[in-house]
Parts: sequence; C-alpha cells; structure tokens
Amino acid sequence: MPPGEEECHKNGTSNPETGSKWINDFELLTMDEYLDQPDLVDSHGDASFTGVWDAAKELAEYLLTNTKTNTNTNTNTNIGSPTRILELGSGTGWLGITLARNGFGNNKSKDTSIIVLSDNPHNGAVQWTQRNLDAAKTVQQLPHLDNVQVVPLDWNDVAQIRHVAKMQPWDLIIGSDLIYTEEGCCALAKTMAELLNQQQQQSTTNNKCRILYAHSQGRMPELDVLWKQQLQLQGLTFQIVASKPQSWQNKDRTIIIGDIGLVS
Ligand SMILES: C[S@@+](CC[C@H](N)C(=O)[O-])C[C@H]1O[C@@H](n2cnc3c(N)ncnc32)[C@H](O)[C@@H]1O
Repeated sequence: MPPGEEECHKNGTSNPETGSKWINDFELLTMDEYLDQPDLVDSHGDASFTGVWDAAKELAEYLLTNTKTNTNTNTNTNIGSPTRILELGSGTGWLGITLARNGFGNNKSKDTSIIVLSDNPHNGAVQWTQRNLDAAKTVQQLPHLDNVQVVPLDWNDVAQIRHVAKMQPWDLIIGSDLIYTEEGCCALAKTMAELLNQQQQQSTTNNKCRILYAHSQGRMPELDVLWKQQLQLQGLTFQIVASKPQSWQNKDRTIIIGDIGLVS
C-alpha cells in the first residue's frame, strides 16, 4: 500500500474540534528521511507505516480524555490505570510516544511502568519505529521516553507473538488502522486472541488485559466484514466504546474504537 494521502498525516496534531490540550510535540521523521534509507524501503511497496493515521489520533484522544495519568496520581476514570502498554503496528510510533509524553508508562511509583511499541521487522516498519523513537530521544531530546521500547512483532510469527505475550503482564494492548489486507486482517485477529489467551493463562491476579483498537470503518468495506468474522472465529468480542463519523471525498467513514476481549 502506498503512503496514504488522506488519512495519513506526517505530523499528528491535537484534535482541533475538541480543542485537546494534551502534549503533541513529537516530530516524525520525514518521508525524505525514509527514502534516504534504502535498507528500510520495502520492496513490496508497503510504506503505510511512514505516516500517522487518523484512527491513531482518535485513539490518543480517547485514551487521554478517559484516563487521567500523571506521575503522582493515576486517577481511574474509564480506562483504568494502565501502566504496561503494548502497541501493535506502531508505524511511526506517534501514538505510543504521545501517550508517554502525556504521562502513560511513566508512573514512578510502579517499577513496571512501560510502553512497548511493536511492528513488522520484514517491511522496514519496526526499524522505522525505532529510528523515530531514537530521534525523539536524541535529536528532539523529549523527556519521559525512558520507559518506551521497541520490539519486532510480526503477526504471522508465532514465536514472536509468544515472546511478546510473556514480556509483561500487559494491562492494555492498543492499535490503530491496522487492517488493509485480507491476510493481515486474519493474522491480526489471531494475534490478538493469542495475546489475550496468554495473558489469561499467565495472570495470577484479577488484573485483566484489554485491547483497544481504533478502526476506520468504511474505508475498505469488504475488510470490515472479514474483520468481524475473524474476531468471532478467534473467540473475541468487539464492543464499540467510541465512534466518530468522518467524511473524505464524500465517502462516509466512521472511526470506531473497539474494546476487544475473550468470549467468556
Ligand atoms: C496503516 S499503518 C498504521 C500505523 C499506525 N498504527 C497508525 O495508526 O498511524 C499499518 C501498520 O500495520 C503494520 N503491519 C501490517 N502487517 C503487519 C504484520 N504482519 N505484523 C505486524 N505489523 C504489521 C504495518 O507495518 C504498519 O505499521
């Protein structure tokens, strides 16, 4: 998939409609910088990870509005108080890095406070995530990124999925705009089920891991149908917790945020 021209914005900005006040100062590496690194440019043409997609912004807005976190108090509203967060298909890393800039994964009273960004190692994506994080830390010198890490995670690689599942007792798994091929759609649902099942098996407490996934519904309608089928097939529930209509070139789309869990 070529870099999207419409939903994909090189620099995420706070939502002007809601007048969000959260910190949004992470500057992405540019497309020119991507093209200057031939080792990263995917020969199959997938550069979808080089920009920030609209669903990522909606998920940031949702998380930052519904959870109050700062380094002293972790006030629970709706989302709970996630301190161990895993992001799937991070791309530029904008979502996870922005969450970290706003206090997530940085709870000094908890030594396990962490945000892990993950992406595919086979198309240059996870390398791009890492380079963006490195630039945020060293070039931009943004604070509060010490607890942000990057790991390779290909949804077709069972060993990688199990490794990541065991890294932490995750509180929250997030992802945005990850569905744009049939193969990826099936692999993603399977990965989510595997991660949640592993969390359930490993859990010694009542701490329940949840997945929040932001999806652009209507962009590829046939994949919307397949996604629902795959969730069911993998024994997953999808409860919409937020939705926002979007219009692009007179085509109706809705960004939906779904809370994904195991069928009980
Ligand atoms: C459209 S981009 C979205 C990027 C980011 N989440 C956002 O919203 O800005 C899709 C992401 O899914 C990742 N992806 C696609 N197939 C994958 C796979 N098999 N394993 C892991 N990540 C994959 C891509 O590398 C890319 O980063």
